[in-house]
Amino acid sequence: MWLNPSNPQLNREGELHHLLSLEGLPAEILWQILDTAKSFVGVKVKKVPLLRGKAIFNLFFEPSTRTRTTFEIAAKRLSADVINLNISASSSTKCESLLDTVDNLSAMHADMFVVRHSESGAPHFIARHVAPEIHVINAGDGRHAHPTQGLLDMYTIRHYKKDFSGLRVAIVGDLLHSRVARSQIHALTTLGCPEIRVIAPKTLLPAHVEQLGAHVYHDMRQGLKDVDVVMMLRLQSERMQGALLPSAQEFYKYYGLTEDKLALAKPDAIVLHPGPMNRGVEIDSSVADGKQSVILPQVTFGIAIRMAVMSILAGSRGVSGRESRVKTDNHGSPVTRDS
Ligand code: CP
Repeated sequence: MWLNPSNPQLNREGELHHLLSLEGLPAEILWQILDTAKSFVGVKVKKVPLLRGKAIFNLFFEPSTRTRTTFEIAAKRLSADVINLNISASSSTKCESLLDTVDNLSAMHADMFVVRHSESGAPHFIARHVAPEIHVINAGDGRHAHPTQGLLDMYTIRHYKKDFSGLRVAIVGDLLHSRVARSQIHALTTLGCPEIRVIAPKTLLPAHVEQLGAHVYHDMRQGLKDVDVVMMLRLQSERMQGALLPSAQEFYKYYGLTEDKLALAKPDAIVLHPGPMNRGVEIDSSVADGKQSVILPQVTFGIAIRMAVMSILAGSRGVSGRESRVKTDNHGSPVTRDS
């Protein structure tokens, strides 16, 4: 076993080999991803050859607009060959198992799988079974984790607030079903954010969320007081079993982000939302499109974050002893293997 037994995302040298969850990842790896992403944001040329000759397979077993598209853009900017498997037209519909699908795509010389799946743990399961030279990236699994979303959210916060050490951050809404919230909390904690607040009705809070280091609020007006960052979450009706809320209108009344509630946060507070948004349910349009919203910059930064993750994975030593790390020149631009 050449992967690190205490964290199978890492190889024995402590380098990232798969990106499955932000839980347990050391701070230096998160900073490495954020710094590498920053170097890509600054790149003037449209394409860099870091992943030339690599085959990236996007396997999205759940719908996606932002994640799938930005992974594709990111891979193409790194000069990779990108294959988007159309799951609804694939042999998965003829009962082919997940592992058989992955084995067959591996036989086509896949280098990376980007996986979104409704089952928590599906990317981990794939990572345990693929050949050692193949990398797996979790693009969102069930309620469990959405690590690249958590990372692009951290990039966005760092871009606007510079430093995590003095921040008060509120995460609001359907935490119970949110893989995004879990990844955000792990990342904020690792990066040194001193105060994380979670604001939700009791029915939409996971058990033991305080043990992750978050302070619980049920009253949104109290929870938003003097925060620097407001991270809204989507109400995930498709994952709800039974009636957890009286109605969407009732939820909006108490937990929807409106201009008057946002006025309780610091005047320069920023508003994030991972998308897709339910306008008039968890966020008012005047806030979503308002001057404190950084929702569209989040999407743009997602490209650089996904470029960073894929280039770092491709540069890890794996079993073949290849050189590690994306190196940057004095101007912060990536130095390619060809240069
Ligand atoms: N934030 C996010 O995961 O959006 P998509 O479902 O559109 O990928």
